[in-house]
Amino acid sequence: MSNSSDRLSHLSPEEKRSLLAKLLQEKAAAKEAPEVPSAHYRFDLYPEYLQLKRQLAEITALGMHNPFFTVHERVSADTTVVAGRELINYSNYNYLGMCGDPVVNRAAQEAIDRYGTSACASRLSSGEKVLHRELERTIADFMGTEDCIVYVGGHATNVSTISHLFGRNDLILYDELSHNSIIQGCFLSGATTISFPHNDAAALDEILRDRRHRYRRVLIVIEGVYSTDGDIPNLPEFIAAKKRHKTFLMVDEAHSAGVLGKTGRGICEHFAANPADVDLWMGTLSKSFASCGGYIAGSTAVVEYLKYTSPGFVYSVGISPPNAAASLASLQVLQAEPERVTRLHQRAKLFLELAQARGLNTGMSRDSAVIPIIVGDTIKSIQMSHHMWERGINVQPMFYPSVPENAARLRFFMSCTHKEEQIRATVDILVEELYKLSGESNGRSQ
Ligand SMILES: Cc1ncc(COP(=O)(O)O)c(C=O)c1O
Repeated sequence: MSNSSDRLSHLSPEEKRSLLAKLLQEKAAAKEAPEVPSAHYRFDLYPEYLQLKRQLAEITALGMHNPFFTVHERVSADTTVVAGRELINYSNYNYLGMCGDPVVNRAAQEAIDRYGTSACASRLSSGEKVLHRELERTIADFMGTEDCIVYVGGHATNVSTISHLFGRNDLILYDELSHNSIIQGCFLSGATTISFPHNDAAALDEILRDRRHRYRRVLIVIEGVYSTDGDIPNLPEFIAAKKRHKTFLMVDEAHSAGVLGKTGRGICEHFAANPADVDLWMGTLSKSFASCGGYIAGSTAVVEYLKYTSPGFVYSVGISPPNAAASLASLQVLQAEPERVTRLHQRAKLFLELAQARGLNTGMSRDSAVIPIIVGDTIKSIQMSHHMWERGINVQPMFYPSVPENAARLRFFMSCTHKEEQIRATVDILVEELYKLSGESNGRSQ
């Protein structure tokens, strides 16, 4: 047996010193951090960004115009103007024609004259205006709730409210087709989150029977109208499940407020339900109400708690005075002119019936102002959008990951401002273009 000093005994002191220096150098080099790949510190090399660039290049290579970020040159309602050309328009949420309405415009202008263009502070500190109070009172009365809180954005309303009211030890059950803002709020909350099959109150009930007792608070989240498919959940069944299992129920009415019900009071009116049976009525101001912002209508307790503590409200500026005034005026116009809702229902029904009669695949859409025409694959939806564009119709394609693969579609948003002739012409053109694209003789979409 020999130890290491024996093995080095033949070396001179000079050689030993130089060997030691070499070993120390090697050790230091080995300790140095490995090279950081440039994609880890450069956005232009993000694989996700490069993938996006490839997808956009594919659209251009097909000879299509990029359907995203189209610049519109005036108010968009039943028609719009792009690059000086007027198109029939189905690509925005101006359901009741409130955006661009002279009364609504004037209200926003007067608010600017009085308050300027910004609330300039969080409402909690010193951004509160009388308009904010009037808007919240009007929404609460319209919805039949005790009170209401208005946030500066619709997306932020969901994220901030859900993540703030629920946390560890809680369970959130949300419909599998829920909007991104709901899902973001769920994940941020730290609660256990489970999606249940679309519109399936029986499946939800089963999950609750299994799991309710393991959690402190439980929230069920559904939407009044699902924005990808234009279908409506059976609200009474969800209210029954909520009561049976002692949970909270939240309904996102982004696409149902102003749309469903005889007077536009949403899914609650549609089913003649009791507003008090839903704990959190969420809605956006960007669709039927000609503005930008979101609200939670509910009990005095939850609204007061959110106003003092919800991060997206407390640490964010108040909705701007012209935005608040526009929504307030929209609600007033809606109550004075409920025929706008009747007209919207008629126009959407006409579109749906004509499309179905021609064999187009309208998916699950019913009784709402969102009508998908499902064409199958992504490329086909982009091509169809392009061909419709060339024929003077603006309609956006929608594809994976926004909807399942092979369920890509054109999504038509209806407005009470659409004319019957526009709708008839649109369905005729749709059938012609689908026929041309698929080469099928009967013009059916898949
Ligand atoms: C169901 C749903 N919830 C919330 C939002 C967010 O609303 P906003 O666009 O006003 O921020 C949207 C937006 O389209 C939506 O469709």
